[in-house]
Amino acid sequence: MLNHNGRDNVHAIQFKSSSLILLDQRQLPAQENYLHFHDAASVARAITDMVVRGAPAIGIAAAFGIALQARQQIKQPTLNLQAAFKILAASRPTAVNLFWALDKMQSALQAHAHLGVPEQVSLLEETAQGILEDDIAANHKMGELGASLIEHHSQIYTHCNAGALATGGYGTALGVIRSAHRQQKITMVYAGETRPWLQGSRLTAWELMADNIPVTISCEGAAGQLLRQGKVKWIIVGADRISANGDVANKIGTYNLAVLAKHHNVKLMVVAPTSTFDLSLQQGTDIPIEERASQEVTQLQGVQIAPHNCRAINPSFDLTPSELIDAIICERGILQKPFAKNIAALLGG
Ligand code: MRU
Repeated sequence: MLNHNGRDNVHAIQFKSSSLILLDQRQLPAQENYLHFHDAASVARAITDMVVRGAPAIGIAAAFGIALQARQQIKQPTLNLQAAFKILAASRPTAVNLFWALDKMQSALQAHAHLGVPEQVSLLEETAQGILEDDIAANHKMGELGASLIEHHSQIYTHCNAGALATGGYGTALGVIRSAHRQQKITMVYAGETRPWLQGSRLTAWELMADNIPVTISCEGAAGQLLRQGKVKWIIVGADRISANGDVANKIGTYNLAVLAKHHNVKLMVVAPTSTFDLSLQQGTDIPIEERASQEVTQLQGVQIAPHNCRAINPSFDLTPSELIDAIICERGILQKPFAKNIAALLGG
């Protein structure tokens, strides 16, 4: 799926002829279906229902949701987008990129309050498109930075999907893997399958296979055995929110991997753009963790796989304390310990 420029060709989010087009990630890899959106409420539903997922992708989709709602009001004397901002902000709680993108849209609007409605609509569409393009550029930068830490002949373990599908394109964790693969440093990528939505086996394996990057699916429980056998050099993951001290909220199961990595002297790299940092939170325990419906655990694609009415927990994310992390890569540079001090120096102020 890499074209001759070395850029990936997955287009999970596109904006064409005033319509937002999302690749329905719930159906991958069986079907490549594209859904069209024209208002904020339907985009919010698509985020909640996992049509589009992954922290940066959620933010980009929400930004376009605001632009779509504005276009609906193009004949009105003034824009009224309060309800649109509210419904999009309520779509998922953990990924801070969502709130960051909505803030950017709000600021763009406030800075251009003097313009007429048609000009404001164009401005909002351009701002959303800018968020998308900046995200792709950040991913390429992080890819190069992260790949510089990877040794030749490395086997990598990744969790969930932090790829082109989860971002504007190229990916965060998968961006590093793509760049390192181009430098011929990678012999195998293990994709943790990632219960309950199977982002690893459905999405990461699909993306990597399309790019001819060697990938092997590992069920979550096999990670310890793989690491014990010395098969993995780096675990590389994305993030949904990073607090000022470098604690990371990411897909449930990341913390398990971080603990395993520490025990087996395997290094842990987190790759996330600056839009994933929340410097208003001192520590990760302040990050809201989404709890999703228990049926996502007790059923598999609509088929009941646990006893009827059995309780199940379904936290969508967990928290990895910064002491278990070796490097955090953002587009501005490589962060290492002490994270609080280095994050403040690179991103503060
Ligand atoms: O529930 P999801 O699929 O939205 O969770 C996604 C993750 O946890 C990713 O690792 C994270 O958002 C980073 S994506 C570049």
